Amino acid sequence: MRVWRSAAALRRALAPARRRGWSIGFVPTMGALHAGHASLMRRARKSCNLVVVSIFVNPTQFGPREDFSEYPRTLARDLALCRREKVDFVYVPRAGEVYRPGADTVVVQTRLPRHLCGPYRPGHFRGVMTVVAKLFNRVQPTAAFFGAKDYQQAAIIQRMARDLDFPVRIVVCPTVREKDGLALSSRNAYLTPEERRRALALVHALRLGRRLIALGEKRAVRIEAGMRRLIWSEAPGASIDYASVVDAGTLEPVRRARGKMLLALAVRIGKTRLIDNCVVSPSRKNLSS
Ligand code: PAJ
Repeated sequence: MRVWRSAAALRRALAPARRRGWSIGFVPTMGALHAGHASLMRRARKSCNLVVVSIFVNPTQFGPREDFSEYPRTLARDLALCRREKVDFVYVPRAGEVYRPGADTVVVQTRLPRHLCGPYRPGHFRGVMTVVAKLFNRVQPTAAFFGAKDYQQAAIIQRMARDLDFPVRIVVCPTVREKDGLALSSRNAYLTPEERRRALALVHALRLGRRLIALGEKRAVRIEAGMRRLIWSEAPGASIDYASVVDAGTLEPVRRARGKMLLALAVRIGKTRLIDNCVVSPSRKNLSS
């Protein structure tokens, strides 16, 4: 495994693989790596000849009052995890390597970022798209791997790649969870033991939403109210940014349960903002009723 600190060195190292026509799998990350990230690397390892991981805490996707400076930075452990997952190249750009002084160009999208996390994190998806576009240009991967945990992010990147003609296949991989159901996240490290217990309210609320739909509940407001009530009872004091039922393709809110839907949550437990989601469809029986 080799670690590259500059785009030029990375490009030189990738040239022979490209000449041989090898497929290049790419996993962009912000570090503080866990089993969720490892699952993306494993998937890339299975389907590509060469695997590149990037580790970069991207300042432009954090709002002024968000956790950019506290974000966990654990490079030595991260590199050990990459080595275990048989990653070939890790790109860890030096500060100042990604955004050149005077940089003034960004990637924006109008529809998908209007929903869910968009209004709560102004500029976030613009920062994500801009850095991912730059990383795609630097790595020029055949396929790039994203987690369904950040469903909206994956959908936005898929749309961006299609709209801007990036010749890359976007692969979305399932959310990896702890045994008790909590979705793995680098931000779980912020939780106190008591908050960690309360954080289970998210996955419990998703299960409740799924169950209500399976039982034939059609009204989105009822499903959303059920999820909210469960979160408030299991995590008193939590602040809910959203608990929504949306169309899984457009992320537009739905009024009645139909087709492929996404149940999506963003909840602040103490100072930590957690997100989770699951895709559901009304059962056949319910569709015909
Ligand atoms: P980061 O939060 O480090 O996540 C990197 C990738 O790991 C994302 O595609 C994310 O969806 C995936 N991931 C995180 N937790 C996961 C889990 N429990 N199961 C499966 N996949 C999981 O997302 C980012 O970084 C950044 O926004 C980035 C795309 C790197 C741009 O800066």
